[in-house]
Amino acid sequence: MDVTRYDPVWREAETYLRARKNDIHIPLSFAWCQKLLDLHPQADRDICSLAILLHDIGWHSVDQAKIIGEGFRSKNFLQSDVRYFHEKEGVRLGTQVLRATGWSDSVIDAVCEIIDGHDTRSAPHHLNDRIMRDSDKLWRYEVTGIAVACDWFGVTPHAYVDQVEAQLPKFETEHGRRLAEAEMADTRRKLMLHVL
Ligand SMILES: [Fe+2]
Ligand SMILES: [Fe+2]
Repeated sequence: MDVTRYDPVWREAETYLRARKNDIHIPLSFAWCQKLLDLHPQADRDICSLAILLHDIGWHSVDQAKIIGEGFRSKNFLQSDVRYFHEKEGVRLGTQVLRATGWSDSVIDAVCEIIDGHDTRSAPHHLNDRIMRDSDKLWRYEVTGIAVACDWFGVTPHAYVDQVEAQLPKFETEHGRRLAEAEMADTRRKLMLHVL
């Protein structure tokens, strides 16, 4: 699959991706999404690819100190006000980006339905939503994801990997969970986590 068809969307969203290290998170999660799409041919490639690309652009509207303090290090951070706010802003900015790049209203609606509530809604709506959620998680098992996220949470790489290991049962697809397990084993080796 030629993913260059999404290049105009990347360009249009670039400013928004320069917040919260989303210029690292999103390309990595986008690549995981392509892998999961290859394994789930019944999912919609455009909807999933556009949803993962745009799901976190709403963080651009939140002050970085607030993102870390309330969005990551507060009690019950997944239900914090800034979490809800970044989803609503993601829908607003995502709609603008998709309109500017010529996508139809039906694509925009389907993408925004996934973005809205991606962190705060307990259950996914359907397979496209499940693929997006697993892609969003998978980068956390990579060395790069751990390097970024352990700073957000203010913990060591080892503590962070233990944290994401405990989240393995939360994967929505069997393929997603298997990919995460394999990546995590590799990461533990590379980062010497049996010692550090
Ligand atoms: Fe998010
Ligand atoms: Fe994300």
